[in-house]
Amino acid sequence: MSKVTVVGAGKYGSTTVQRLAESDVADEVVMTDIVEGLPQGLALDMNQSRPVLAYRTVVTGTNDYADTAGSDVVVITAGLPRKPGMSRMDLLEVNARIVSDVTKNVVAGSPDAVIIVVTNPLDQMATLTADVSGFPKARVIGQAGMLDSARFAHFIAEKAGVDILSVKAVTLGSHGDTMVPVPSLCSVDGVPLTDVFDEETIAGLVDRTRKGGAEIVGLLKTGSAYYAPSAAAAAMVEAVVTDSNAELPVCAWMDGQYDIEGVYLGVVATLGAGGVTGIVEADLTEDELAGLREAAIAVKGKVADLEQISL
Ligand code: APR
Repeated sequence: MSKVTVVGAGKYGSTTVQRLAESDVADEVVMTDIVEGLPQGLALDMNQSRPVLAYRTVVTGTNDYADTAGSDVVVITAGLPRKPGMSRMDLLEVNARIVSDVTKNVVAGSPDAVIIVVTNPLDQMATLTADVSGFPKARVIGQAGMLDSARFAHFIAEKAGVDILSVKAVTLGSHGDTMVPVPSLCSVDGVPLTDVFDEETIAGLVDRTRKGGAEIVGLLKTGSAYYAPSAAAAAMVEAVVTDSNAELPVCAWMDGQYDIEGVYLGVVATLGAGGVTGIVEADLTEDELAGLREAAIAVKGKVADLEQISL
């Protein structure tokens, strides 16, 4: 029996719940939010799609954390998007309060859960969740790398005019400016990316990937991406629930891998019932390794901002 809770019934949260339910990966999926009626209404609507799509998972919509008790996995999507006039520090403060409060509430009823954090700013929120929960770091994971890797793969497939399934793409590091693309681990039909495109073309694809979230925000005008993000979060949940030990690019706690420690960073890790079951140390080029170490320093700097916030 597996139970998954998704906190936040906004775009990201509700789409994640929909994907999980439709793939029948858990016995029960609970969706909670502070807005009364929202998770209940969405759950009712989703449950009514079951006979059409032929899946069994029942979604429970609730505003009460008691209903989340005993979850094996909790996905935290609760938070506010950045609004005009809001600084990054303002957003950090608002979302840190929300995520800290959510973490305390879910941990009380689900002390053995694996927590997957997606709320931005991701690196800080993953660190905060680990601190507030007191969980072993392996049981708190951030989602960013799967999304960035998927965006990179999409841009590569589009540019090369090939089947998306023939593309292998990996990004490491952090979400955004210090994302580290890893061309040495990318390929099209098994051919190394560096043999498919020239340096300038790869740099263009990397740049578009780095700004991938902003490109979508610019088009949508309100709100941010959620289809690819929810696909990534649901895949992480599935790996934990099925104890598959799938290798996925995620935001995981570094404990000396690549000579980096004491920070949440985007790396390829195996995910299973206990959360992160191992970190895969790839054979990186000198440049890629330097990029990863720079990203670690940048994330540590951002995480230090959390100390200025009283929760
Ligand atoms: N507890 C539970 N839910 C909360 C709380 C809280 N304390 N505070 C806010 N929420 C809910 C809101 O009511 C809203 O329904 O979180 C939801 C957020 O939904 P959206 O505004 O639609 O945002 P979404 O697109 O889902 O993104 C969520 O993921 O990608 C990141 O940057 C994004 O941090 C954001 C998060």
